[in-house]
Amino acid sequence: MLQHDVIIVGGGLAGCRAAVEIARIDPSLNVAIVAKTHPIRSHSVAAQGGIAASLKNVDSHDSWEAHAFDTVKGSDYLADQDAVEILTREAPDVIIDLEHMGVLFSRLPDGRIAQRPFGGHSHERTCYAADKTGHAILHELVNNLRRNGVQVYEEWYVMRLILEDGQAKGIVMYHILDGKLEVVRAKAVMFATGGYGRVFNTTSNDFASTGDGLAMSAVAGIPLEDMEFVQFHPTGLYPVGVLISEAVRGEGAYLINSQGDRFMTNYAPSRMELAPRDITSRAIARELRAGRGIDLQGNAGGPFVYLDLRHMGREKIMSRVPFCWEEAHRLAGVDAVEQPIPVRPTAHYSMGGIPVNTDGRVRSSNSSLVDAFFAAGESACVSVHGANRLGSNSLLECVVYGKRTGASIANFVQNRKLPEVDEQFYLTQARNQIQGLLDQQGEYRINQVCQAFQDCMSQYCGVFRTEELMNEGLNKLQELQQQFSQIYLDDRGSLWNTEIIEALELRSIMIVGQTILTSAINRQESRGAHFREDYPQRDDSKFGQHTMAYYSPAGIDLDYLPVTMTMFEPQERKY
Ligand code: FUM
Repeated sequence: MLQHDVIIVGGGLAGCRAAVEIARIDPSLNVAIVAKTHPIRSHSVAAQGGIAASLKNVDSHDSWEAHAFDTVKGSDYLADQDAVEILTREAPDVIIDLEHMGVLFSRLPDGRIAQRPFGGHSHERTCYAADKTGHAILHELVNNLRRNGVQVYEEWYVMRLILEDGQAKGIVMYHILDGKLEVVRAKAVMFATGGYGRVFNTTSNDFASTGDGLAMSAVAGIPLEDMEFVQFHPTGLYPVGVLISEAVRGEGAYLINSQGDRFMTNYAPSRMELAPRDITSRAIARELRAGRGIDLQGNAGGPFVYLDLRHMGREKIMSRVPFCWEEAHRLAGVDAVEQPIPVRPTAHYSMGGIPVNTDGRVRSSNSSLVDAFFAAGESACVSVHGANRLGSNSLLECVVYGKRTGASIANFVQNRKLPEVDEQFYLTQARNQIQGLLDQQGEYRINQVCQAFQDCMSQYCGVFRTEELMNEGLNKLQELQQQFSQIYLDDRGSLWNTEIIEALELRSIMIVGQTILTSAINRQESRGAHFREDYPQRDDSKFGQHTMAYYSPAGIDLDYLPVTMTMFEPQERKY
C-alpha cells in the first residue's frame, strides 16, 4: 500500500499552494498530490482576469476593510465574515509572496504590480498578468512543488475517500494510463478538487470540472454547503460558453443589446458593466427574454448580446486582454478590434462546496469536524463568497486558504501515526465497481445520458428558478439517474480507458446536480445567484443561513447553519 504523511487530491492553485506551505513549514514531511490531469492543466490555469488585494498601487484609498465590505455585500450577506476578514487582510501579503516565487504580474510604468477595476469592487484592486493570471500563478506554484520535493501522481483518478469512524484515512485511486488501482493511506487527506461546471450544458469550465471531490465527500456522508448558489458568468462566448474575462469590461468594454443600448444603465446605473455577476447575468437574461438579444445575422430576438470593445482600440485590446481577443477569433471567427463579441451567461463557479472552518478542517455537521480531513479552493465552502462571488476573489481564496490549510495540516500531522487501512477490502470494492461498469449490458451511451442530464440542469436550474420548474427538473433528473445502470462502454480494455473515467464522472455529476436542485427548491427566497421568480425578495429571517445538504442514495436531507456576522449588518443590496 502506498503511504504519505499528507495526500492532497487536486493539482490546481489551492492544492499546490497548500503543498508548498506544508513543505516550507516542515520539509521532513512526505507530501503528495494526486491529480486527474497534469497539474498545469488544472482548471486554475484558465483563470483570466486577476486576483484581488488592497495593495493600493493604483488606488491609495483602498483598504482591506473596503475589500471585506465589497465581498460581504457581493455575497448578499451570506458570507461568513470571520472568513472574509482573513481573506481580505491576508490578500496583500500572499500577492507579494507569489511575486517572490516568480509570478510575472503585469506592471505599472514605475514597476509596481498593476491593478484593474473588477465587478462589485469599489476600488481598483485586481492584480493581473494580462488575461492569463491563473496560468502565470499556477506555473510558478508547480515549479515550486518540484523545488520542494512534493511527489505528483498525475493522471490518476481518485475514486473514493476512505473515511472510517469519523476519520479520513486515505484514498483509492485509478491510473488512467493502465487501469492500475492503488490504496494510499495518509495522516491527513486534503481535497482541492475544484468545481463542477460540467453539471450544466454550457460552462466556462474545462472537461475535468465534474465535481468529483464533492460527490465523493457526499457519498462518504459529509454534508455539502450552499450548493444552490451557482455562479453564471455574464460573458460566456456564444455558443461554446468559454470565458470572455470580466477584465474586458474592467478595461472598458460595453454590453449592448439589439437596440444598440448599454442596457446595464437600467439594472445597475452606478456600476454599469462592472456590477456583480449575479446582477449582470440576470440583466442579460432579461434582455434576451424581452427580445432584445441578437442573432448571428444581426437581427433582434436572438440568443446573445454584444460585448463591444471597439472603442478601446487595438493597442489596449492586444496588451491587456490578448487571450480574449484570440478566443473570440479562434472560436467564433470574430476580430474584436473590428466587431463586437457575442456573449451570454455561462455556468462558471460554485459558491458552495465541502464545508470547512477557517483552518480548512472539514465539518461533518453544524457542530462537529471530520478527523484528518481538509479542503480548500472551489471545492470547499469556507464561506467567503456566500450567495455570489466577486470576480478575482476566487484565485485569492485558493491562495489564502490553500496556504492557511497547508499550515494547519503541517501542524496537525505532527506526532500522528499512519492509520490502519484494510487495503484488500478497498481494492476489491474498487475492482468490482470498475468491472461492474465494464460488464454492464446497457442501452445508452455515456454521453447521451450525460448530455440529457446537463440539458436538464441548465433548463430547470439556471439563472431564473421557480418551485414548479425545479420540481419538474428533479423528476426528470431522477429518471435520468435510473439510466446510469443502463449505460454501456464500447471500450472494455484497461489501457487509457477514458470511458471508465467518463462513467465515474457522470456519477459525480448526477450526485452534485441532485444536491444543487434539492437545495435550490428548499431555499424559498432570492439571494445572490439564486433567483426565485416565485420568491423574488431576500428573506433574512428565514434564510439568512447556510444550507447543509446530506446526500444518501435514498434522497437528500437538509439542515441550516447560522451565518457568522462580525463586521457588517445586512442591508438592501443596490448598485
Ligand atoms: O472573468 C474572469 O476573468 C474571471 C475571473 C474570476 O472568476 O474570478
